[in-house]
Parts: sequence; structure tokens; C-alpha cells
Amino acid sequence: MKAVVIREFGNPEGLEVIDVPVPVPAPGQVRIATEAIGVGGVDAVIRRGTLAAYGFRAGHLLGSEVAGSVTAVGEGVDASWIGRRVWAFTGLSGGYAEQAVASVDDVLPLPHGLTSTDAVALGASGVVAHFALERARFAPGEAVLVRGAAGSIGITAVQLAARNGAGSVAVTTSSAERGARLRELGATHVLNRSGEGGQDAPAGFDVVIDVVGGPQLPLFLDRLNSNGRYVAVGVVGGQPPADFGTRLMDAFRRSLSFATFSSDTVPGSDRNAVRSSQFADAALGDLRTRVHEVLPLDQAALAHRKMDAGEVFGRVVLAP
Ligand SMILES: NC(=O)c1ccc[n+]([C@@H]2O[C@H](COP(=O)([O-])OP(=O)(O)OC[C@H]3O[C@@H](n4cnc5c(N)ncnc54)[C@H](OP(=O)(O)O)[C@@H]3O)[C@@H](O)[C@H]2O)c1
Repeated sequence: MKAVVIREFGNPEGLEVIDVPVPVPAPGQVRIATEAIGVGGVDAVIRRGTLAAYGFRAGHLLGSEVAGSVTAVGEGVDASWIGRRVWAFTGLSGGYAEQAVASVDDVLPLPHGLTSTDAVALGASGVVAHFALERARFAPGEAVLVRGAAGSIGITAVQLAARNGAGSVAVTTSSAERGARLRELGATHVLNRSGEGGQDAPAGFDVVIDVVGGPQLPLFLDRLNSNGRYVAVGVVGGQPPADFGTRLMDAFRRSLSFATFSSDTVPGSDRNAVRSSQFADAALGDLRTRVHEVLPLDQAALAHRKMDAGEVFGRVVLAP
């Protein structure tokens, strides 16, 4: 089968389409013939080498979420899974392939009315948005900022904050056109990437959900209201400056909180419960996904070029 691996870390040209053996599901796993493969910001971060400290090596098969039909099950897995249409989390590898394996604990049936393409635009990122807002102890009436809102995590976070009664939902994004698209999803104020603009935007925020990180993170720490909570969920802009914590200490008397949040720390059953509910909402149109483009699997490098060029709004999806 065809799969896409990182031959060389760095730019998208380092991705290579190769032939590999069809994986055999281990005990507790299922194998899925992929119909849709999510191309996430985390894939770009791994490809660039930003997460080198985590031990990623050349030859790494990218991709963490797929949707398709179960073609085989490993020992201990109910054979009734075979033939079912599912969404699956494959971990931090294995998704960019014609067939992928996943632990049955990370597999959910697709509800009627949810396409495989929409499932991979929501599956992994929706739970990050949900639990990040929960971790931030978001309460109705509060002023929320979603930094890096035009990706899948942000798109869901904006909708969840809006529908759960946020007093305002500000976003950062790189263009007015993208801002208009975020307003359709519930954003009330549109700021540029540096946090400027946004007519009548609140000066401070009770909750910041940050997908970006990077050198400008301290600017946004400064925008927290007293008792404000900042939850960093991503690093699409790179690591923050090493001394960013100094800003928190300088503001000691305002009782600010900074947290990182990874959905890896949420029990799988809790993630699945939230994901099932979000899938059901998406099937009904109550939670919206944004699929930027569907490209063939062997165009994975093009998908990454589009991400790097900042063209993507929502998710790019690969289809074998
Ligand atoms: N916490 C978790 O459990 C978890 C789980 C999965 C993934 N992640 C992390 O989440 C991130 C990916 O999330 P995603 O797919 O939603 O994001 P994404 O689509 O890669 O990026 C979101 C938006 O950030 C903006 N952006 C990109 N580079 C920027 C920069 N240098 N400075 C400022 N803004 C920038 C872009 O929007 P504009 O052009 O409109 O500004 C982009 O659309 C990765 O860091 C990944 O590691 C976390």
C-alpha cells in the first residue's frame, strides 16, 4: 500500500510517498481502509522538526486521524467491527496511508449523516477545544480570546464558547476575509495576529485559548484580566520565549493562571464521550466543520505547502 513518510525533516519536499506492507492489527487493534485522512497542524509541527525532542526519526509515517471502513481486527477485538464505518485516532503516526491501524479504544462509529471528511476535521481537534475551555474554567458571560482560531481547534473553540454563553469571543487571524468566516461561526471581535484591531474588542480577556505560542505569547499574557486563565494548546508559531514566565510573575498581584493542556491527559473514555456527542452535533449541523480542500494522498507535500503558506482555513484532508 501507499504511505507518506518524512524522508527529511524541514520543508514539505522532505515528504515521500513509498510502498509499505499493509499493517497487521495487533491484539486490541483494528485496521481501517482509509477514506479520509486529517492533515493537522501537529503533522506540520512534526515535519518541521519542532518536536525533535520527542524522538521523531526520519522514516516517520505521519498522520494521526483517519476515517474509513474496518477491514480486519486483531486478537481480542469483536469481529462485528469489520465493515463498520469509523473514525480513528492512530496516535502520532500511521495515518497517511491507504490502510491504518488503531487501538479499538480510539475508534468510534461514524453516525449517520457525518461524512468521513467532516469526521477527520472534527475528531481530534474538537475534544481539545472542549477540554481546553473546561480546563480554563470558562463560565458564561466571560470574555474569551481564541488565538490561532482559523485551524480546526480554534474553529470548534469559537463555536463552543459562543454557544455556551461567552460575553464575547475574540479571535486572532491573518486577514479580514478569514475574520469574516470566523464571525459566521460565532466570533464577535477579529484581531490581527499581534492582537491589534477588533473595534470595541475588550481590552482584557478572562480566558485565552492559544493554539499558536511563539515569540508573541507574552503579549497575550498581558491581555489577561485579573483572575484570567491562559491555556496553551499548540505551538504552530513555535516555542514561546524562555523567559515568558517572568511576565506572569511581574503580574503577580493580578492572580493570573497559565496552563498547558494536552488531550493525552484526558481519560480515553471521557474523550470518546465528548467526541461522540460532537459527532452527533456535527451530523445535525449544530457544530460546523471547515474542510479547506480534499487532496489525493500522494499530494501530501502539496497539502503541507498550503499549510505552510497559511492558505488553509480549517482542515486539509487527504483521500487515498
Ligand atoms: N493540546 C492538544 O491536545 C493538541 C492536540 C492536537 C494538536 N495540538 C496542537 O495544536 C496545533 C494545531 O492546531 P490546529 O490544527 O487547529 O492549528 P493550525 O490549523 O495549524 O493553525 C491555526 C491557525 O494559527 C494561525 N497561525 C499559523 N502560524 C502562525 C504564527 N506563526 N503566528 C500566529 N498565528 C499563526 C493560522 O491562522 P491565521 O493565518 O488566520 O492567523 C492558522 O490557521 C499544533 O501545535 C498541535 O501540536 C494540540
